[in-house]
Amino acid sequence: MDKPDKREKLKELYLDIRDCQRCGLCKSRTKFVFGSGSAYAEVMFVGEAPGKNEDLQGLPFVGQAGKLLDELLGSIGFDRSEVFIANVLKCRPPGNRDPRIEEINVCKDHLMGQIKVIDPKIICTLGKFSTQLLLNTDKGITGLRGKVFRIDNHIIMPINHPAAALYMPSKMEILKQDFQKIKKLLDSASEVSDSEQDISSLEPEDNQDKDEQLGLF
Ligand code: URA
Repeated sequence: MDKPDKREKLKELYLDIRDCQRCGLCKSRTKFVFGSGSAYAEVMFVGEAPGKNEDLQGLPFVGQAGKLLDELLGSIGFDRSEVFIANVLKCRPPGNRDPRIEEINVCKDHLMGQIKVIDPKIICTLGKFSTQLLLNTDKGITGLRGKVFRIDNHIIMPINHPAAALYMPSKMEILKQDFQKIKKLLDSASEVSDSEQDISSLEPEDNQDKDEQLGLF
């Protein structure tokens, strides 16, 4: 898809889905939070769901976690306008409760539509929900973060959710380091092909950290 096309297609997708009523969250939402950033982004970040501020403003990651995300992006030379930021759910779950499986199942088409149009080189899943959805696994984030997977044409790298790092200082350092890995991965993305860890290696016994084994970082 060439340049003007991606922007147009993303806009079309937005217009198609912004009045979504596929699940009950449409009744309690203030605004549908499509996502924001560049249609031509090489890196896409996928969070969990809009919170209170996001619901009010219609934009992703505008609260404290968003501030941290901006800082982390800055640490690798990015402005948020150069990446694309989206969520698994486009509408806020009341009281910021966890997304429900039936909500994820109906909302995932929207996310998949965005990924198809943007076609980023790297998708960073922020926390458990986006990681489990995009890797199609029920494994926890702790064992998956910082690893690199190839699914279809995309490199997927799970990292801790910024909100978790705000509450747990031990996760903050790991998150900062994982952002440096994103940078390195992006710099070498055009060179790597068969070396990434494949989804087929997501077996229960596969707990060792394969990064070094792969020589990616
Ligand atoms: N947390 C998320 O997962 N997404 C947002 O948009 C904001 C906070």
